Amino acid sequence: MRGRPKSKKHGSGAAALWLLLPLLVMIVLKTNLLPQVARYSIVGSPPSAASGDEMAGDVDATKGYNQQNQIDTTSREEDSSVRNSDVAAPLGSKLSCNFSDHQSNTCTMEGDLRIHGKSATVYVASVSTYRPENSTIKLRPYARKWEDQVMLLVREVTVRSSPPAGGADDDAVTPPECSIRHDVPAVVFSTGGYNRNFFHVMTDVIIPLYLTAREYDGRVQLLATDYEPKWIAKYKSILAALSAYPVIDMDSDDDGVRCFPSARVGLESHKEFGIVPGLSRNGYTMTSFREFIRSAYSLQRPRAAPASRSSGGRKPQLVLILRRNSRQLKNEADAIAAATEVGFDVVPAGPDDVSDLERFSAAVNSCDVLMGVHGAGLANMLFLPDNATVVQIIPWGELKWPCRHSFGEPVAPMGLRYLEYEATADETTLNETYPRDHAVFTDPISVHRQGFDKVWNIFINGQHVIVDIKRFRGFVEQLYKATTTE
Ligand SMILES: *[C@@H]1O[C@H](CO)[C@@H](O)[C@H](O)[C@H]1NC(C)=O
Ligand SMILES: *[C@@H]1O[C@H](CO)[C@@H](O)[C@H](O)[C@H]1NC(C)=O
Ligand SMILES: *[C@@H]1O[C@H](CO)[C@@H](O)[C@H](O)[C@H]1NC(C)=O
Ligand SMILES: *[C@@H]1O[C@H](CO)[C@@H](O)[C@H](O)[C@H]1NC(C)=O
Repeated sequence: MRGRPKSKKHGSGAAALWLLLPLLVMIVLKTNLLPQVARYSIVGSPPSAASGDEMAGDVDATKGYNQQNQIDTTSREEDSSVRNSDVAAPLGSKLSCNFSDHQSNTCTMEGDLRIHGKSATVYVASVSTYRPENSTIKLRPYARKWEDQVMLLVREVTVRSSPPAGGADDDAVTPPECSIRHDVPAVVFSTGGYNRNFFHVMTDVIIPLYLTAREYDGRVQLLATDYEPKWIAKYKSILAALSAYPVIDMDSDDDGVRCFPSARVGLESHKEFGIVPGLSRNGYTMTSFREFIRSAYSLQRPRAAPASRSSGGRKPQLVLILRRNSRQLKNEADAIAAATEVGFDVVPAGPDDVSDLERFSAAVNSCDVLMGVHGAGLANMLFLPDNATVVQIIPWGELKWPCRHSFGEPVAPMGLRYLEYEATADETTLNETYPRDHAVFTDPISVHRQGFDKVWNIFINGQHVIVDIKRFRGFVEQLYKATTTE
């Protein structure tokens, strides 16, 4: 099922929000309600740009700074013109935050960084472009910032900067001393949010982690807030491919203050279940992401070679994702029988099969088709070989648009092919609750007009699919033809 925050009460509202996301985006664009643009700090202004006040040199402000910064203060006081012309040597730390992105808030920093995990505080000492009004910045390092309810499940990280030695700000925080020094960059993220939902983990965390941390080629320390040991265990292969070091549990880090030469707080993210190549610093694409995933799981099949219908060789394999709560395929046994008769080797996959990623990624990679009713399990398409086909079964209720948003549009950029099977009014269990002359059947759009909760409760979470076997069989015959050769 789609993600829901742990709180049931809020869950339906927040989870249904995705449904009308395209609509919301349009409304936002039309009415200029774009999130307030607030970009903190300009990277790289030379120290000479500091105001007179900041250069005045309050001795107290140097308290607790490391030796290097104190030496800097001295030399500046001796001859500031020498210091000013000496811009080749980087002075102080750099900090740049971007709060204008729709998906996530992020901060990038380098220089003298000190992370105190237990208080979720990142101290940026001696910021060359320090401004008192920007000395404390708070952000939740999870890439779904438009969904208020889920963001509440993500711990807030505080970025506190302090002025260069000699800078005057009586209120400025004194960064704590380092207890451990790391010589690799840090990336701070959250394993909270919709962390039980495979689709959300991929779209909100794993793809963003890839965009943010892959460039370090393993020489990066990941720090997780809202640390979930089960999550870390489940995604261990991906985490090990991203970083050579175990993920640090920030919230209960007893090692005091960790210092890093550079850090990224919050993860880069471009869109739902996808990457916009033009926005990636490193030119990453969903193709390169899938190569990364294949390598993380040692998947053997980069490309699907269509099976031959006449040779009597191997049959094309179809993995059928079976849901156990909402949106079940009620007559799955008949559906499997039909697909088998048509010529597929069907691999049924329930929640237990799907949860072991090492095994299931290999199973999916050996398949030519992945099929299932709309839901998080379809995100396993990531493991398919190139040129394989994804079939989304769309439940009754005018859900085509939102279903395509999550699992239709993202398919082609992955090098996969997409087909859909949309259930008719005769292929749902809603007839057990509503008479056939009810608006649920005669005018589903009017249900959409009643809001997210109604759509969620009736169409998303309130029905199962019963495919009309005759119609389904006809569809699978077409599918078979399209995915095999003579
Ligand atoms: C932070 O600093 C920038 C650059 O000076 C400024 O535009 C922005 O308004 C500041 N933000 C806050 C919250 O003070
Ligand atoms: C901040 O994010 C927005 C949206 O992704 C992007 O257009 C902009 O270039 C970013 N700003 C900086 C300074 O990176
Ligand atoms: C509801 O529709 C399904 C599928 O068409 C059908 O099998 C079932 O008998 C119907 N149930 C009721 C109560 O009408
Ligand atoms: C992709 O698969 C289709 C049918 O399964 C086949 O016709 C086509 O040649 C394949 N393309 C490549 C590049 O393998």
